[in-house]
This record gives sequence, C-alpha cells and structure tokens, in this order.
Amino acid sequence: MPAPASDVLLVDLSDDELRRRGGIKWTLPDADVLAAWVAETDLAIAPVVTAALHEAVERGDLGYPPLDHATPLPEALAAYALDALCWTIDPAHVVLVGDVMAGVLITLKTLCGNGPVVVPTPSYPPFLDVVPLAGRELVTVPLDPGAEHAVLDLDQIGAALSVGDATLLLCNPHNPWGRAFTRDELEGLRDVVVRYGARVISDDIHAPLVLPGATHVPYAGLPGTAGHATTVISASKAWNVPGLKCAQLVAGSAADAAALRGIPHVANHGLSPLGVAANVAAYRHGQPWLDAFVGRLDENRALFADLVAEHLPLARHRRLEATYLAWLDVRAYGGDDPAGAALAHGRVMVNDGRTFGPGGQGHVRINLATSADRLERVVTRLAAGLAPAGSR
Ligand SMILES: Cc1ncc(COP(=O)(O)O)c(C=O)c1O
Repeated sequence: MPAPASDVLLVDLSDDELRRRGGIKWTLPDADVLAAWVAETDLAIAPVVTAALHEAVERGDLGYPPLDHATPLPEALAAYALDALCWTIDPAHVVLVGDVMAGVLITLKTLCGNGPVVVPTPSYPPFLDVVPLAGRELVTVPLDPGAEHAVLDLDQIGAALSVGDATLLLCNPHNPWGRAFTRDELEGLRDVVVRYGARVISDDIHAPLVLPGATHVPYAGLPGTAGHATTVISASKAWNVPGLKCAQLVAGSAADAAALRGIPHVANHGLSPLGVAANVAAYRHGQPWLDAFVGRLDENRALFADLVAEHLPLARHRRLEATYLAWLDVRAYGGDDPAGAALAHGRVMVNDGRTFGPGGQGHVRINLATSADRLERVVTRLAAGLAPAGSR
C-alpha cells in the first residue's frame, strides 16, 4: 500500500544524520546521549524551503538584504496570517529583524516605557535575560505548578502593571505551558493592560504549531490593542530554520512601525537574505508540509501521554494545545536536578525546568518533534534516569 501523502512529506533523520547535520541540539551532547532539549525538530527541512534556499544561493542572493518592502516577505506574511491565523495585518506595519529575541529587545528599547516588564513563568528562558539586557526591571508572575489548568493570573499581572509605564511580555502560544490562549482569556488580559496603560509584546513564534482542538488567537488581532501591542513572529520554529536569521515585527500602528524602522541600522542588522527566502517560501508554499508536521505532533502528544503513564506514572503534565515542547512535573521523583539525573543516568538531554524561572523547579521540558521510535527511547531513558538509585 502506498504511504499516505503526509508521510512522504516528513522525512525522519537517524541519530547519526542528526549529529552530522551540525546543529547544537545534537552536537552539544555526547555521542551516546539522546537529544530532546532545544526547540529544533528531528526532521529533514521541508522541500519547498530547501528549494527556495538552493534557488537563492544559485542566484547569489547572499549580500545585504533589501529594505523590508523591497522584499516579498511583508506581503507573504500578511497573506499567511489571513489564511492560516484569520489575522488581518497591514504589510506596511511589518518590520524585518534578525530573529525573534532581537525583535523583542528592539521593541522593548524602542517602544516600551521604562517601567517593569512582566513575564509569566515558567517562561522561555531568554525572556528572563532580555528584560535586564534592555535595562528594565523583570517582574515574574509564577504559575502554580499544581494547577490543573495553566492560566494567566490577571490579578497578579494587573498588580505588577499598575505601577505604570510597564510592559507585558506575552508568549502565545506559550512555551513551555503548551497553551494556546483563548479569545476570552486574551480579552481579559487586554482589559487589564488597557486599565494600566501598559504595552504588550506578543511572541507568536509558535502560532503555526497549534494542534487539533485549539486555535491561535493573535493578541494583536483583538479590538483595542493597536495602540499598545507589537507582535514578533517567524517561520523559523514551525519550519525549523532558526539558523537563517529572519523574524518579523508586526507593529500595531504606522507610528510604531516608523519608530521601529527609525533606529540606527546597527541596532537591527541581523537579517539574512536566506532567512527572507525561507520565510517567504514557508508562508507561501509550506502549508501542506506543516499540516503533515502538525499531524505528527498530534500523534506524538498522544503517544507521549501513553509513554508517561506507562514509564513515569508519578509524573504530571497538561495536554499540549500547541508547540512541540512538553512540560513535565517530575517533583514526585525527588531530587533537585531531574534534568541532570536524566543526563547522568538515562543518557537523555532534556531542558532543566529551573532555567525557566519561578515554578520551574522539579520540572523538565521535553521536545516531541521527533519520530515515534525516538520519543519512546527518550521517555524510557528519562524514566531510567529518574528512577531511585537502588532500582536503576
Ligand atoms: C517562545 C520562543 N520565542 C523565541 C524563540 C527563539 O526565536 P529566535 O531564535 O528567532 O530568537 C523560541 C525558540 O524556541 C521560542 O520558543
């Protein structure tokens, strides 16, 4: 029987191929270690993206990239956002940047007040670093690790924003909570933000990776947000090309876009022409590959739940709504450093929850963007690593 079309699109790489590929995920760990940490996939790159890159290299498109609107990327993003995310954006408000975190830093420095920057935690670790780097005070709002549902604590967020001139750094869909926030939740957040005259930077890099049953609601698509919201997005996570250096800021207004474009070139110089080519190809032609990939992730979240129930019965996790990053509460297994134990005794590298800020202790983050076979090896090795010393 011929393979279903979606399987043909996805090509799983072997452990050796992944090590030879050269990225940090597989080259940092020792050769006997399984890599399930940094947010990269274990699949070959989507053919439409590699074709666009070959074509750009053949053309010799390796110089300084043109100005934003001399590239097709603002239009390609706007068309993708409308089709895939039901989000209308003005291509004139799109400002190209080198990567998502550069976009966050530029926005903090250019558009945000000098007040505190509020980050719900556990958080993508660089959020905790970018705030002091921008010269702002970091205020974390931790999630209760025991909570059944991971929801934004609007009372605490409001209290933190109430001092004035503040910013909320939102991650939607959320890494590592795995949440795609609902319209109701985001409207509640918007009301708090408006009450205190705060700014929002919304990192929507995981927007294409919303799994069946959930929907991505862009914060900046809500009424009443244009005056204070800036979105950062890129094809780099969903189509696995973060090394190509290209992300997009979507300003809420023409004035914000002008301010972002007005900064000195040296403050926004990381953009690469290959990143532009890859993002354009992904947004324009990458949906069939993405559909297959999201189908794989849907299968993997179910497989992961089964594997955890079988091998790590004391661990807790909330079902992923989006992203391929599972957040696992392994406090019941004891020990201060479960990721260290997994590496030392299970030979599997997962992310250490403590690096995600308050609420991260006793947790690990596991990358599910892999084959079913490797996911099974990852979970069984994790279980071996967390097992009490006497029973290993
Ligand atoms: C929420 C989030 N933002 C940003 C990034 C990094 O994006 P970039 O490499 O474009 O800075 C990641 C990477 O995993 C992420 O999960």
